[in-house]
Amino acid sequence: MIAIVARSRNGVIGKDGGLPWRCKGDLQFFKRTTMDRKIVVGRTTFDGLPPLKGRDIYVLTRKADASFANGTAIHSPDQVPTDAIVCGGAAIYDLLLEQCDEILVTTVKKEVEGDTFFNDQWLEGFTAGDTLEETDEYSIVSYQRDA
Ligand SMILES: NC(=O)c1ccc[n+]([C@@H]2O[C@H](COP(=O)([O-])OP(=O)(O)OC[C@H]3O[C@@H](n4cnc5c(N)ncnc54)[C@H](OP(=O)(O)O)[C@@H]3O)[C@@H](O)[C@H]2O)c1
Repeated sequence: MIAIVARSRNGVIGKDGGLPWRCKGDLQFFKRTTMDRKIVVGRTTFDGLPPLKGRDIYVLTRKADASFANGTAIHSPDQVPTDAIVCGGAAIYDLLLEQCDEILVTTVKKEVEGDTFFNDQWLEGFTAGDTLEETDEYSIVSYQRDA
């Protein structure tokens, strides 16, 4: 399984249910990476997402009766399809990164305020590999699970 995450230089990944930056290049990378794929997100992240055409979205929620117009409700990590891309938020990275063998990490090169944070422990057992994109605004690095 692979995961994709973006963080600011000071480790923020979210604010008020959304992303506290505009980074067109990273959004395009997210779109390219996830298009025509299954993705899994937490219910909080799902609530803050715009409609994502072309993605088959699985939404983790503990609410047994939850249903979503543009997503499939699931209730445990066992129900996550093994070919899904893990797309956050923090609670879902905590839950699923241990099953991942690659994490695509964008660093947005600014300091922002937020309420949801990147946990450096998420990268334990991974080593930085290729830099996929590098601009003045952001970088994207692929982290691979150690053999
Ligand atoms: N920068 C990035 O790459 C990135 C990516 C994704 C999200 N984000 C940001 O991260 C923030 C949201 O993160 P978050 O950690 O607050 O929330 P989240 O991970 O998106 O969702 C949390 C919810 O997931 C469900 N959940 C969690 N553990 C579960 C389990 N074991 N079984 C079943 N359901 C489970 C629960 O939903 P119920 O309450 O319905 O039970 C829980 O409230 C937002 O600001 C978002 O924009 C950033």
